Amino acid sequence: MKTTGNTILITGGTSGLGLGLAQRFAAAGNTVVVAGRRTALLAEIEAENPGITGLEMDVAVPASIQNGFETITASHPDLNVVITMAGIMQPEDLTTAGFLETAEATITTNLLGTIRTVAAFTEFLQGRPDAAFMTVSSGLAFVPLAMTPTYNATKAAVHSFTEILRLQLAESGVEVLELIPPAVATTLLGQDEDTSGRAMPVDEYLDEVFEILSTRPDEKQVMVERVKMLRFAEVDGAYDRVLHMLAGSH
Ligand SMILES: NC(=O)c1ccc[n+]([C@@H]2O[C@H](COP(=O)([O-])OP(=O)(O)OC[C@H]3O[C@@H](n4cnc5c(N)ncnc54)[C@H](OP(=O)(O)O)[C@@H]3O)[C@@H](O)[C@H]2O)c1
Repeated sequence: MKTTGNTILITGGTSGLGLGLAQRFAAAGNTVVVAGRRTALLAEIEAENPGITGLEMDVAVPASIQNGFETITASHPDLNVVITMAGIMQPEDLTTAGFLETAEATITTNLLGTIRTVAAFTEFLQGRPDAAFMTVSSGLAFVPLAMTPTYNATKAAVHSFTEILRLQLAESGVEVLELIPPAVATTLLGQDEDTSGRAMPVDEYLDEVFEILSTRPDEKQVMVERVKMLRFAEVDGAYDRVLHMLAGSH
């Protein structure tokens, strides 16, 4: 995808990777709209970032996605990139039934939220020049983390869904990218408080992502060096070792 001159919607753009990416895209000459549920935060982001507009959208609620679609396509008819960043990550204990509520919420936000957002925007984007979807999976799509079983499963599903989204849109002119982050120090699961060095600093991660987007525009799976150990564990014959290493790290 091109890195300047776009009009970009980032769902889950109120904090962490979404907000950081929004700021980088805005600085690089793109018009950026960040969406999320925290309205006070959206207003704050707008006030502090002149190139960024906020949009209230809850990807767990179909009517909210539809409403967001109608609002942004009216206010920004030149929208050409949609990044499905919204996600949650919560620990689950599968030995008691209580995990089900977390599992269902995780699937609703991470997987259904991604699919519903794609459904809302796919026809619109096909009419736009330089159009792109960017989905967000995780290194944990490729080797699961013991404490977050349903989260891992949603990210594996997002990866699989993205592969076919790319194939089905191949003739349409809509590019499909997949961002595959490693552990990055955001508030998603308290990685920002982890002093072990396992989580990559947000700025370092986003600098490397932007470098990849700017210098390798044909890259479909956007992977920083740090995530390759997870992404290619099975290919490298390291799957069992990495699985147990991750299980032991929590
Ligand atoms: N940080 C990591 O280590 C890591 C690694 C791999 C993948 N990822 C993925 O990267 C993405 C961003 O995570 P992050 O680390 O930046 O965490 P974060 O700071 O917690 O950001 C999560 C974002 O998702 C939004 N969100 C959550 N539920 C939503 C909903 N129902 N509707 C709309 N927006 C919703 C939040 O906004 P509101 O609360 O305002 O709605 C927030 O902007 C996620 O998909 C995550 O799975 C992160």
